[in-house]
Amino acid sequence: MEESEKLNDIWTSRWNERYSNEAFAYGEEPNNYLKEQLIKLPVGSILFPAEGEGRNAVFAAKMGWNVSAFDISQEGKNKAIRLAEKKGVTIDYQVGFLDDLNFEEGQFDAIALIYAHFPAKIKSSYHKQFDRFLKKNGTIIFESFSKKHVDYVKVNERVGGPKDIESLFSIDEIKTDFPNYTIIELVEQVIELNEGLYHNGTGSVIRFVGQKN
Ligand SMILES: C[S@@+](CC[C@H](N)C(=O)[O-])C[C@H]1O[C@@H](n2cnc3c(N)ncnc32)[C@H](O)[C@@H]1O
Repeated sequence: MEESEKLNDIWTSRWNERYSNEAFAYGEEPNNYLKEQLIKLPVGSILFPAEGEGRNAVFAAKMGWNVSAFDISQEGKNKAIRLAEKKGVTIDYQVGFLDDLNFEEGQFDAIALIYAHFPAKIKSSYHKQFDRFLKKNGTIIFESFSKKHVDYVKVNERVGGPKDIESLFSIDEIKTDFPNYTIIELVEQVIELNEGLYHNGTGSVIRFVGQKN
């Protein structure tokens, strides 16, 4: 097995282990920012990359969106499908790395990146691929920890998030990754999180809503 495959296996096992508990790692309720922004948009098709246990995807499906999601974790998918059944909705949820999946150019009206913390080496190239999957005038909704978050996770591990600065985001990175977007909102903010077992306390995040030109 090649070194990169080994690392992928370790990374995938880590997330499967996190999701193998009965309790939801980030809760069953959608992220607040996602909820706030999604209700402003006309219903259409939406992609949730790195969707974990499905809290955001299921919320969107409940609102009538046609939902696709993916993640590397089969355990995450299992819980997402159970959550969808409990709420009486269906979602398309694929398990795998992006290169092995077949999303199409211009397939989605919206893409929601909610704590989609991909490994530092690939995060920018993933963003560029997501841009291709979005229709013209489509919307990106993004909330993830910012580089300043390293100071918050040091004092309170319960707030969660990556501890290495390269995996975290900055306003400049978002501008670079999504240059062809009208910025509806792009801010770095300190917020209080109360999401399931692993997002609890004060953290620093980047929030972005952009419309593709
Ligand atoms: C902090 S969790 C967020 C889950 C979900 N978006 C939420 O807000 O509840 C990060 C997620 O990224 C997923 N992930 C990490 N690397 C990935 C990759 N290369 N491709 C797809 N998913 C990945 C993990 O499995 C995990 O579910």
